[in-house]
Amino acid sequence: MCGIVGYIGHRDAYPIIIKGLQRLEYRGYDSAGIALFDKDLKVYKKAGKVSDLENFVKDLKLEGSVGMGHTRWATHGAPSDRNSHPHSSGDRKLTIIHNGIIENYATIKETLLAKGHVFKSDTDTEVLIHFVEDIQKETGVDLREAVRIALNKVIGAYAIVIMSADEPDLVIAARKGSPMVIGVGQKEYFIASDATPIVEYTKNVIYLNDNEIAYIERDNLLIKNIDNTVQIPYIHELDLKLEMLEKGGYEHFMLKEIYEQPRSIRDCLRGRIYPQEGKVQLGGIKEYAEKLKNVDRIIIIACGTSWHAGLVGEYLIEEYARVPVEVEYASEFRYRNPIISERDLVIAISQSGETADTMAAIELAKEKGATIFGICNVVGASIPRTTHAGVYTHAGPEIGVASTKAFTAQVTVLTLLAFYIAQQRGMIAQSKLVEYLTELNEIPELVERALKSNDRIKEIAATFIKTNNCLFLGRGSSFPVALEGALKLKEISYIHAEGYPAAEMKHGPIALIDEAMPVIFIATKNSSYEKVISNIQEVKARKGRVIAIVSEGDVDVKEMADYVIEIPQTHEAFVPLVATIPLQLLSYHTAVMRGCNVDQPRNLAKSVTVE
Ligand code: AGP
Repeated sequence: MCGIVGYIGHRDAYPIIIKGLQRLEYRGYDSAGIALFDKDLKVYKKAGKVSDLENFVKDLKLEGSVGMGHTRWATHGAPSDRNSHPHSSGDRKLTIIHNGIIENYATIKETLLAKGHVFKSDTDTEVLIHFVEDIQKETGVDLREAVRIALNKVIGAYAIVIMSADEPDLVIAARKGSPMVIGVGQKEYFIASDATPIVEYTKNVIYLNDNEIAYIERDNLLIKNIDNTVQIPYIHELDLKLEMLEKGGYEHFMLKEIYEQPRSIRDCLRGRIYPQEGKVQLGGIKEYAEKLKNVDRIIIIACGTSWHAGLVGEYLIEEYARVPVEVEYASEFRYRNPIISERDLVIAISQSGETADTMAAIELAKEKGATIFGICNVVGASIPRTTHAGVYTHAGPEIGVASTKAFTAQVTVLTLLAFYIAQQRGMIAQSKLVEYLTELNEIPELVERALKSNDRIKEIAATFIKTNNCLFLGRGSSFPVALEGALKLKEISYIHAEGYPAAEMKHGPIALIDEAMPVIFIATKNSSYEKVISNIQEVKARKGRVIAIVSEGDVDVKEMADYVIEIPQTHEAFVPLVATIPLQLLSYHTAVMRGCNVDQPRNLAKSVTVE
């Protein structure tokens, strides 16, 4: 939920840190701060964005080659100068930045208050650094040991970086439940919540594991477990490229990522489908092929957009593999007492691979003996390193908070998985698979064509930027697409929008229809087309304004809708991949015309690593 950056080496730390915070601002942006060792430990922090922090320090001569920075998404304590990170110990000799939640902070705080500690903020983070200070003073141990003892006593999730005025050539980093990556340079180290602030300096990274502490000096990195056992780090080579992180000439990351979808879907398919042979290959789960022949049930757990992708997966897997599928909100699943057996397969879908609710749901399912697959976009994230196996979506970094290319990549993986399981269970004829995979292989081109409606969609968006409510309706696997379209609109334009199964409208939502209510239908030519036509007529009979996503060349819906957006005709199984594109563009243009911050919508963050 927050972004953290650290540096120790031979360069000026400030430019590296502030640029790193800008790259991580999508993770949270209600306050920001930095600490530098420049003859002494100095801390600068304030509410607002990273750019506000830059303004705040612009006249200062910031030197020092050790430092750290933090951009915050508030969990404890409202966004304010005093609650922004870094936080310091009582004697101001220690300072810390933190991403996560210390769940037992109140108990620790009580003990420290009784000992006379004075706190300046409402945060759990400040309690942690006072706790370390207290342990050092009470036991006389050095900072390394004091941090280790403290972390053995805290409950919750953390990714922390600590600096000390007495040990300016040491940075201590640790993680549990929140992400942390260490970049390995030549006599310099970089620390960050993910690889984006690191990749321009080094491609060699270490993904710190839960319960590990890194003691970092310019020419030495020691990693230990909190039980004090030395860990041998594994250095990965990043395949991220810097230009992937820039906007590439687009006004917003979101628009860039919408337009990347022909490529990201192609990348997701690459090496996994052999249309002529009618074969699907998913290397990440191949040792579970036998298991898939006998699995009784599939439970998909996810949040938000990823949950919508899971719903599309339900239609596809049940249709083609004939395996019962249940799709669960991870946040609900984790607190129920679900009935799970070894014969169940649980699939966790997560773009970031760090969503706390999804992580917790995985742990619960694991305890109950299920096999767990992950469908994630961030290589090396916590979820892919927790699940038994999985399939990466290969959509590339998704910076816009509103998920777009990750969604279509998730649906692509679920489409492949449906065919793969059907293949393992002999539920699909080779000839049919040749037909389906040949058509699936064309989807990137159909998405490219769907993007060409951008100008038309922008015109339509202009007609309802003043609306306060909106309905999205679809049937079959277009119902989850309706949900996704509604989520896109509400999360970036702040217009209230709801997605519904089109047939469900007559059970209540039809009461909402009047001339002020835009209703967006996914009305492509497939098995439920005639029924959707009836639903459109029901809305028109009540003066509702209809925008319809239709198959190219459709004339019937054109007669009755106020606006139509044509998309290329494709097999019903692949409609979600194409029909989503105009809904993404519709939401994007509406939000831009409403003057909303498209890439960093209010109250949201890209990765929800708190409950
Ligand atoms: C989608 O546009 C939202 N940003 C949000 O619903 C997101 O999908 C959800 O938080 C799940 O995130 P994840 O895929 O990284 O787990």
